[in-house]
Amino acid sequence: MFVQILGSAAGGGFPQWNCNCENCAGFRNGSLRAQARTQSSIAISDDGVNWVLCNTSPDIRAQLQSFAPMQPGRALRDTGISAIILMDSQIDHTTGLLMLREGCPHQVWCTDMVHEDLSTGFPLFNMLTHWNGGLSWNRIELDQSFSVPACPNLRFTPLPLRSAAPPYSPHRFDPHPGDNIGLIVEDLNTGGKLFYAPGLGKVDAPLLEIMAASDCLLVDGTLWDDDEMQRRGVGTRTGREMGHLAQNGPGGMLEVLEQLPTQRKVLIHINNTNPILDEDSPQRAELDRREVEVAYDGMSIVL
Ligand code: MLT
Ligand code: MN
Ligand code: ZN
Repeated sequence: MFVQILGSAAGGGFPQWNCNCENCAGFRNGSLRAQARTQSSIAISDDGVNWVLCNTSPDIRAQLQSFAPMQPGRALRDTGISAIILMDSQIDHTTGLLMLREGCPHQVWCTDMVHEDLSTGFPLFNMLTHWNGGLSWNRIELDQSFSVPACPNLRFTPLPLRSAAPPYSPHRFDPHPGDNIGLIVEDLNTGGKLFYAPGLGKVDAPLLEIMAASDCLLVDGTLWDDDEMQRRGVGTRTGREMGHLAQNGPGGMLEVLEQLPTQRKVLIHINNTNPILDEDSPQRAELDRREVEVAYDGMSIVL
């Protein structure tokens, strides 16, 4: 299976347009060694021709332009996007559907909860019906594997994860299974197994087992410290409140990853405040020591 990192940043991207935190300002004035990153999305394929887009970021146009296989040009109007799977209904993962309106209808896989949010608080399903049939909903049943016709050698298994529904969700303060999922993606030919969870608030023992059985982990790298937004003076909410497990500290993502066998461990969905974006930071050096990678836009993984 081919895994292409289209966007490795969290909501807002890096640098964030209105942000002058140490990272964003340092990137702009050239004092920080770091790469710009677009918002959270990956593409997966079993043949390198038909792609499943996981999440559809507001930066989708630039992401498609930077990855030629997704624009194969076989017909006057064409795309390599064969299906779209949504992990949640957050703005950074769904707004790109508006940018893809010219190519409707699209086949979209998501849970009941995500479909409800996108039919009420952020009614993309309703709005896009005005563009050539809009979005065809394929229901993701929790804990039930599914496949996508365009990539028959890939098996997708959704995992309900503890995270938070977006501010416009009718059940914002009443979390439900299916608000946020992770995915296990298996290539039935190569046996390669990916675990993808850009929003991961808690890792319990069964999940740890699932992660241990994967060849590559692409997991929540939003924050280094749980109170990072406060430390950087840009917000009041903690990682925990937003459904993101921070890397540092007791019970943090680094401790979780430490318990797992040797496999590729890659952080993704990195917030612009996170010190690991600075390639010369001690936090980045600690990741290197632990052999934990930081996803970047344009990164390719073959499993
Ligand atoms: C999240 O990952 O918590 C959200 O995407 C945050 C946001 O962009 O509003
Ligand atoms: Mn996000
Ligand atoms: Zn910033």
